[in-house]
Amino acid sequence: MKKKYNCEIPIICIVAMNQNRIIGDGQKLLWHIPGDLKRLKSITMGSPLIMGRKTWDSIGFPLPGRGSVVLTNSTTWESRGAIKASSFEEAITKSKQWLIDNENSKIIDVNKKIFLFGGAEIYRLGIEFCHTIEVTQVIFQAEQGPQFPFLKEENWNKEMLEHHYKTASTPEFSYWRYNRKNNSL
Ligand SMILES: NC(=O)c1ccc[n+]([C@@H]2O[C@H](COP(=O)([O-])OP(=O)(O)OC[C@H]3O[C@@H](n4cnc5c(N)ncnc54)[C@H](OP(=O)(O)O)[C@@H]3O)[C@@H](O)[C@H]2O)c1
Repeated sequence: MKKKYNCEIPIICIVAMNQNRIIGDGQKLLWHIPGDLKRLKSITMGSPLIMGRKTWDSIGFPLPGRGSVVLTNSTTWESRGAIKASSFEEAITKSKQWLIDNENSKIIDVNKKIFLFGGAEIYRLGIEFCHTIEVTQVIFQAEQGPQFPFLKEENWNKEMLEHHYKTASTPEFSYWRYNRKNNSL
């Protein structure tokens, strides 16, 4: 039986994916949507982010005002500004510790939360512990690449928050919020 985490702090997943659930090419995102990046910054500011080592490499530096908890299997890996974790459980513990360590700083979001930040391997590890998923659904042609896991549709209430039409520089995209139905965790 899979181990369940009793994390009193909500774990929120945040992802941008295309119509085939593709989230990137393995090294970077496939699209550039400045408005989505601004929104991601505002949603995640003051919180710890749990990410895989490949996602860390794709960003290349710690995102300001947030904790970067990086999962790796390597015992020797280290990178300036990264908080290393070798299991999902340790990533949760270190995220909580980051919130404690920064409690008195102005950056901390008063509504404490931890973000499941990707990529695909890390979404697969942590999605079962999330009650909410902030989804940017992008209309973009790509069939290959790391994929967001399939969800059991019957377990989620989905609400569309905003829709953006295609422009000369950005694809069509919309913001969705998925909330897990109470009895499905
Ligand atoms: N669209 C989005 O919202 C979004 C968000 C994030 C990332 N991305 C994209 O996703 C792609 C990267 O995703 P990915 O799935 O290839 O890689 P990833 O999930 O970012 O990182 C995978 C790495 O995490 C570590 N890891 C995985 N499971 C582990 C475990 N149980 N314990 C310890 N460490 C573990 C391993 O690192 P080691 O190899 O060091 O052992 C593994 O190679 C990039 O293209 C990125 O741009 C997109």
